[in-house]
Amino acid sequence: MPGVLTLALTKGRILKETLPLLARAGIVPAEDIASSRKLVFDCTRPGVRLLVLRGTDVPTYVRHGAADLGVVGKDILLEQGADDLYEPLDLGIARCRLMTAAPVGWSPGVGRLRVATKFTTVARQFFADQGRHADFIKLYGAMELAPLMGLADVIVDIVDTGNTLKANGLEPLDLIADISTRLVVNKASMRSYPLEIEALVAELREALV
Ligand code: PRP
Repeated sequence: MPGVLTLALTKGRILKETLPLLARAGIVPAEDIASSRKLVFDCTRPGVRLLVLRGTDVPTYVRHGAADLGVVGKDILLEQGADDLYEPLDLGIARCRLMTAAPVGWSPGVGRLRVATKFTTVARQFFADQGRHADFIKLYGAMELAPLMGLADVIVDIVDTGNTLKANGLEPLDLIADISTRLVVNKASMRSYPLEIEALVAELREALV
């Protein structure tokens, strides 16, 4: 929309931490996002509107220019590949680690590993770099269940407190990547609205604590 920057947000845990950051930059939704079923929100600050999306869809909106900017986890950017987007800011929120994990006491044999994960691209690269032959089983959630049920030997998943692993008899093994939430920008939008986008990025940078 001419004159309006569209910022795609990731719903859920990241959204809860993003809203205070946006508020410190003077960007406040005109209505309460949490209690609304709407997916597009005007802001008290003119010239910015917000979309609320699943994290996996944020890069898609930004890549296609349906949103000018996005707030999304580095895990999703690593998995999808994001060389076609600018990533000007680490927002430092929703920090966690992308790790391998296995049942407590498990030790790898010499044969092929069975790896359950929703991060199949990142996992494939990681095990290839390690020189380990592995088969990958794509799951969309509850990865911790897979070793318990004999579906996989190891998982690749997000670890925050480690409580979910512990509660399911698993332990973290290798760190694949430190994860945090990033601001991404569509490259064509950056060429079309450089002053507006640079001002917004600068305000968000100042709002980081
Ligand atoms: C993530 C991740 C783990 C859990 C780790 O799931 O997949 O299951 O958090 O957190 P912890 O180390 O503090 O226990 P999330 O709740 O984000 O849901 P998801 O399965 O939809 O990703």
